[in-house]
Amino acid sequence: MFSRFSRRHFAKMAGLSTLGIAAATARTASKPKPVTDRHAPARFPDDFLWGTATSAYQIEGAVNEDGRGPSIWDRFSHTPGKIADHSTADRANDHYHRYKEDVGLIRDLGAKAYRFSIAWPRVFPEGTGAPNPRGLDFYDRLLDELLANGIEPFATLYHWDLPQSLQDRFGGWQSADTAKAFADYAGHVAGRLSDRIRNFFTINETGRFVYFGYGSGIDAPGLQLPQGALNQVHHNVALAHGLAVQTIRAKGRAGTRVGPAENIAACLPAIDTPDNIRAAEIATRELNAGFLNVILEGKYTEAFLAYAGKDAPKYTAEELKIIGSPIDFLGLNIYAPQSYVVASDRAPGFEVLPIPASFPHMSSEWLRIGPEAAYWVPRLAAKVWNVDTIYISENGTSSIDQLTPDGKVYDLDRIMYLRNYLAQLQRATAEGVPVRGYFLWSLMDNFEWIFGFEKRFGLYHVDFDTQVRTAKLSASFYRDVVARNAIGA
Ligand code: NOJ
Repeated sequence: MFSRFSRRHFAKMAGLSTLGIAAATARTASKPKPVTDRHAPARFPDDFLWGTATSAYQIEGAVNEDGRGPSIWDRFSHTPGKIADHSTADRANDHYHRYKEDVGLIRDLGAKAYRFSIAWPRVFPEGTGAPNPRGLDFYDRLLDELLANGIEPFATLYHWDLPQSLQDRFGGWQSADTAKAFADYAGHVAGRLSDRIRNFFTINETGRFVYFGYGSGIDAPGLQLPQGALNQVHHNVALAHGLAVQTIRAKGRAGTRVGPAENIAACLPAIDTPDNIRAAEIATRELNAGFLNVILEGKYTEAFLAYAGKDAPKYTAEELKIIGSPIDFLGLNIYAPQSYVVASDRAPGFEVLPIPASFPHMSSEWLRIGPEAAYWVPRLAAKVWNVDTIYISENGTSSIDQLTPDGKVYDLDRIMYLRNYLAQLQRATAEGVPVRGYFLWSLMDNFEWIFGFEKRFGLYHVDFDTQVRTAKLSASFYRDVVARNAIGA
């Protein structure tokens, strides 16, 4: 039946009434444009740094070795009912003993950078006092192995494993004493290791461990503090960051660089009109007022203080100065879009839209799929805070990874997720957004906090009984991206 109509008839039916359009359509159709070569792909900047990431408590194991003290996560994971699969990270990936093999996994990806964390309770088992003489030995060995393999270390100083003693003595982050203890520890580590570590992340995901650890109580240390006390905890962590920036500069080698690694509240324009983009800029400041904005601007926003009212944190002008100490780079952990916003006439100028229940997510329910976050978040952060060096300190996804009988893991959903986020990140770098590197979370499956070992985020599958590591299909995908320094669409 279709063949009875000429193209011209069809164009008429479709409302393309002028002959010109129909003729043009016919011409194009008869001579199709050649498809561009897939290997003219979307390239990242030449010096872009590709890496992977892990953290101490999630992979190391060896919790009682070489003088390590207990952390709040040891206590928490050993408390019945806190971890979904009733596991602890006592052994986890046994990375403490298998670090050489694990460095080999990074090397096999072709990645040139590795973000790991140093366990504070290994270095100061009680959080303060005399350092454990064996506390940094493991990291000495790890660093030497990384450097021997041409992999640049990026160390995080706090990835949630607070020495239990600080929780017991000071209420943990409820006290500025913990902030001071953190600064001493950070200075000590910088003094010892900045001959080999040039880049330090201070604190990982303040926005997560403050709310979940001290607000809802679902993470360690499991407290449910009222809003005022919670704002003070946030403030103390910001102070810890600022004090640590100063001690790292004082004790580290010249050229040591420092910045946070934050799960920024990711604000995206719901539809990218100029008005909504402006609204997303305002939202980026206001919805990050309790941490990123105060460390980058050295002050709390008026809207934050007005909203907090009597619950606002108590602080001095001197503390704000410390908190606002200049940093060298901004680390952004980007997973799910948090808020889609539109412009509003009501101050401060944005409205957050409700997220529909049907919004797609990955195997972790919180992990909404919003690849455009990898474009907008660094772009808005660079503009709002005028930063010239950004690292994506984490991005990745969980997946229900199953080993096939022939020992493969076809994690196609992870590849889909990464491909889409990386395409958006490339778009940002192509437009000049100053993202200098990317750390994929995670190198290998590990202890996913309250989910235990049930949620797998690795490029390598780990059998936690045998400790066998197996490259997933996504490891091949990532190796290809790294090798080409580019992403196919
Ligand atoms: C953020 C945290 O920094 C990391 O520890 C965690 O495993 C990943 N997100 C995935 O949830």
